[in-house]
Amino acid sequence: MFVGRKEEGRAVLLSVRAGRGVVLSAPPGYGKTALLRELLPALEAWAPVVWTERVAPFGAFLKDLFRGLWDAGVPVEGVGRGKDPEADLKAWQRRYPGNEEKARSLLKALKRPEGVNPITLVVDDATGITPSMVPWLVAFAEAATLVLAVHPETLRKGGTKRLWMRLDRVDLPPLSPKETRELARALVERYGVVAEDLEAYLNRVVSLSGGVPGEVERLVRYVSAEDIVRNRDVGTGYAEGLARREERGIALAPILLVAGGVAIAARYLGLARGEMDLYVAGGLGIAAFVVLSPWLRKVVVAR
Ligand SMILES: Nc1ncnc2c1ncn2[C@@H]1O[C@H](COP(=O)(O)OP(=O)(O)OP(=O)(O)O)[C@@H](O)[C@H]1O
Ligand SMILES: [Mg+2]
Repeated sequence: MFVGRKEEGRAVLLSVRAGRGVVLSAPPGYGKTALLRELLPALEAWAPVVWTERVAPFGAFLKDLFRGLWDAGVPVEGVGRGKDPEADLKAWQRRYPGNEEKARSLLKALKRPEGVNPITLVVDDATGITPSMVPWLVAFAEAATLVLAVHPETLRKGGTKRLWMRLDRVDLPPLSPKETRELARALVERYGVVAEDLEAYLNRVVSLSGGVPGEVERLVRYVSAEDIVRNRDVGTGYAEGLARREERGIALAPILLVAGGVAIAARYLGLARGEMDLYVAGGLGIAAFVVLSPWLRKVVVAR
């Protein structure tokens, strides 16, 4: 069950058919992978598609790329083609020991003769890109048509601009309320959710999810219908939870600082006035502070 994304899907296909690469940008759970999977048959009708999971670590990406080329029947120079891709992979690794040599051999393999459509190289998760990978990806973008999925902040990573410049950009917004509802309804059926008042339940899922398909799935699949309708704490996305923990940590900091300061002041005051009791109490306070504060912080923040 796939909803919406007509316009964005068309934009991706148009770019690929024009021989331009695409960067598909949206936060986690917005459906980049889902859209690319949906587009796969149309992409394959246009040119061979090599699908890789992620760009980092680069060595693993190169292996993934080798396997993808093997599956697509594209020969890699210096490696014969046997029956078993893993055996060929080993032969390739022996022949090209370093990442540079590996990347160069794959770059050569990606190039196709004039007059045929270039290979489409999909990287389902390019968020781990680092500046040292950029020259290689730029070179791959010249030999093949790149389709990269990233989180929006990846586009601002230092040393990567040179790559994004060469690619068309397609952003995925949240789904419309209508699409969100359609998706929620389909998922209710798939997971056999029983709600007393289905309409109220669907309305709540639509508003709680903010149109993020991954969030719709989480709510329908893992949160009880009763909790959703009764507006109980239904949990939050990962990012929100993190922000909340951080807030509590920040609130705790001044309290710890004051407590520690009081103990230190007591110790010095005791020393200066020759009051042994105060001096010892201050020392105990500091010791308690050192031992307890990491523990207290953990308890408060991880609640
Ligand atoms: N348009 C859609 N219609 C139906 N289901 C969708 C749609 N988009 C996404 N989903 C579902 O939502 C969930 C999250 O989507 P997906 O994994 O594609 O997100 P993503 O953008 O690739 O996230 P990440 O950045 O973490 O890789 C998946 O279960 C997917 O099947
Ligand atoms: Mg994904």
